[in-house]
Amino acid sequence: NEYKIGIDLGGTNIVAGVVDKEFNIIARAECKTAIPRPESEVCDSMAEIVREAIARANLTMDDIAHIGIGVPGAVNPETRIVETCPNLRFQNWEISKMLEERLHKYVKIENDANAAAWGEFLAGSAKGCKNAVAITLGTGVGGGIIIDGKLYSGSNYAGAELGHMVIVKDGQECGCGRKGCWEAYASANALIRMTKEAIMNENAEFSYMLKSVSGDINKVNGKTPFDAMLAGDATGKEVINKYVGYLATGLVNIVNIFQPDIICIGGGVCRQGENLLAPVRAIVEKERITKYNEKQTVICTASLGNDAGIIGAAML
Ligand code: BGC
Ligand code: NA
Ligand code: ZN
Repeated sequence: NEYKIGIDLGGTNIVAGVVDKEFNIIARAECKTAIPRPESEVCDSMAEIVREAIARANLTMDDIAHIGIGVPGAVNPETRIVETCPNLRFQNWEISKMLEERLHKYVKIENDANAAAWGEFLAGSAKGCKNAVAITLGTGVGGGIIIDGKLYSGSNYAGAELGHMVIVKDGQECGCGRKGCWEAYASANALIRMTKEAIMNENAEFSYMLKSVSGDINKVNGKTPFDAMLAGDATGKEVINKYVGYLATGLVNIVNIFQPDIICIGGGVCRQGENLLAPVRAIVEKERITKYNEKQTVICTASLGNDAGIIGAAML
């Protein structure tokens, strides 16, 4: 069978794609994750969008070799059980079994950011690299590590949780229940939180950002502070500077530990491209322990964007 299905199970959306041999997504379908709701209902939705994507590709289930899912938590690819999933709040989830019951097709699973790293390694920014790290900035912060061309996830598959490295002792609370994790400072959610805090500390009458969301602070998203900064707003710039500092702190640690060929950064925030990456690189260049080495880690956006996770999951 020439085609595989990759599913990116996110905190907000679920996307299924039909992936061909050349790593192209030839059709896709998506739905809302819509948690909180039971695991079985999430599996119903996943089955539905898989069928939809296959139909859109003018294929049938017989054309599909297998299904791969990128899950935002600690998964065991051997037992194919999701052990913990902090941002979806599911535990010991027999996701593969549940989806196989619905679709009668073999289901592989992997951590979402590991899948994204694998996708970037096969077909994106990290193609041809020996050592690479992928970071995803979304609801959480995910990490995927490739060493010598292989995914590294530790002795119990729960490694590569780069988002939960502590960058501020006793700092901000994290979805994992601990404090000061990188995720609590560098995720898109964290950026939104920092933006809202900054707006609340401004005089409402003169707040550029509050005006930009028509006075409704709940409309603040990850783009809000970037747009404000580009329009010359000082508060927007302050928020971005702070965010960039936190993002860079984690990246410096990763560079100093792994010295990979490349770190590719994915997730919605990366649509800001150089507005985000240029200042981040400047800090990393100053802070890395290897200032004088000829070979330095390249920091760039994930060239497959959010498709990396789908392609990587399909190709597990
Ligand atoms: C989870 C990771 C996941 C990341 C991105 C984190 O909160 O612990 O397993 O890769 O979010 O979804
Ligand atoms: Na990971
Ligand atoms: Zn954490």
